[in-house]
Amino acid sequence: MNDKYEVFLRDVKNEFSLNIHQALEMIHYFHKEMEMGLAGEKSSLKMLPSFVCPPKGTEKGTFLAIDLGGTNLRVLAVRLLGDGIIETVGVSRFAISDEVMTGTGNMFFDFISRCIEAFLKENHIAQERFDLGFTFSFPVIQSSIDRGVLISWTKGFSVSGVEGRDVVGLLNDALIRNKMESIHISAILNDTVGTLAAGSYMDPLCHMGVILGTGTNACYSEKIKNIKKLKDPFSSDEMFINIEWGGFDRLERNIYDETVDKNSQNPGEQRLEKMVSGLYLGEIAKIVVIHMIEKGYILSMGLQSILTEPYSFTTEQLSHLSSGSDIFKKSGIRISDTDREIIREIACIVSERSARIAATAIAAVVQWIDPRLHNHHHIAIDGSLFEKYPGYKENMQSMLEEIFGDLAKKITLKLTHDGSGIGAAVVSAIEAHKRS
Ligand code: GLC
Repeated sequence: MNDKYEVFLRDVKNEFSLNIHQALEMIHYFHKEMEMGLAGEKSSLKMLPSFVCPPKGTEKGTFLAIDLGGTNLRVLAVRLLGDGIIETVGVSRFAISDEVMTGTGNMFFDFISRCIEAFLKENHIAQERFDLGFTFSFPVIQSSIDRGVLISWTKGFSVSGVEGRDVVGLLNDALIRNKMESIHISAILNDTVGTLAAGSYMDPLCHMGVILGTGTNACYSEKIKNIKKLKDPFSSDEMFINIEWGGFDRLERNIYDETVDKNSQNPGEQRLEKMVSGLYLGEIAKIVVIHMIEKGYILSMGLQSILTEPYSFTTEQLSHLSSGSDIFKKSGIRISDTDREIIREIACIVSERSARIAATAIAAVVQWIDPRLHNHHHIAIDGSLFEKYPGYKENMQSMLEEIFGDLAKKITLKLTHDGSGIGAAVVSAIEAHKRS
């Protein structure tokens, strides 16, 4: 055995650890930032009011929804039957090309309009008027349920002419340009808000919506009196708050995190997201591997082909590696057993830290809502990292146990498929109910 590489790997493990002491400190700062964000003071947690109140579970009707925020755009028709039951009538998925992700605003919103048109044709849906909920998973400042100004793009999007503008207005213009006036955008919402709306429509114990996928973020229901920055009266005594926890900046970063951040499209921003979410985990692991190649601890040739391009090493590959599958063989790369084992270990180290940070952030929010954990809390979670990464949920659960001991049993992490899309329909239904 090569002692030096073992020492190096042990150091890497240390640099990526989040021990209980650091976790408790993170919770402390999380609460401070939440408080400042709610008061409208400068904070790395934006705490954005969503103008959505908790559903009753009795809302009914059929609604259209679009869900945009990752590499696909989904269009859905969803039927709410009341009694917490939801049926998806139709769903279509459209890949968003790099051209659309980085092109002009008009190209982007025309693309969305055409996807809605294709969906309606495909599913033979025709109506005089459609209420549509628009899940738009980026930080947006809302002044009402159907007006939202994009603060800044995240997750690799950089469509020009959209930051600082009302996204609903821009989509509306595109719908008019494309002669689709029958579509009425009744709400704009974040994917975390959708996930919580869907989760709490189906389950009254659901108190939080979390996304652990390409990006990461969460939402919870806050009492109006605690949202100090809210100026206008609201029709309910609670409102969902989009935390935008990807921006949390009180965590210590290591040299690998700093490199990923420096080379990213938005240096200095979304610090927690860059340590946790699927877009970045492969990149972090890749930088550790490159470091080990440079030091001569990894010797196999041929790895360069998957390591040279930015973001060439994906979190999906990382997840296959963690489960023991030989991703290198599939790409025609010959690599020694020892090197494969080292890279597998790096994958586990990086993903374990991600899960522990995510669980600590959940712990912080649950404790904010219910300091002594008197009640049960179901957490609706969507996203491929949580759903597919081997051992991810278990790592989160063990962190929760370290933090809460036996009381951790009161927190249930629940996979909520398509919550972000279905939730847009739920929010449209809440709005329709208010009007009727
Ligand atoms: C990014 C976005 C946030 C979204 C999250 C998950 O963090 O800023 O709005 O909820 O990704 O998609």
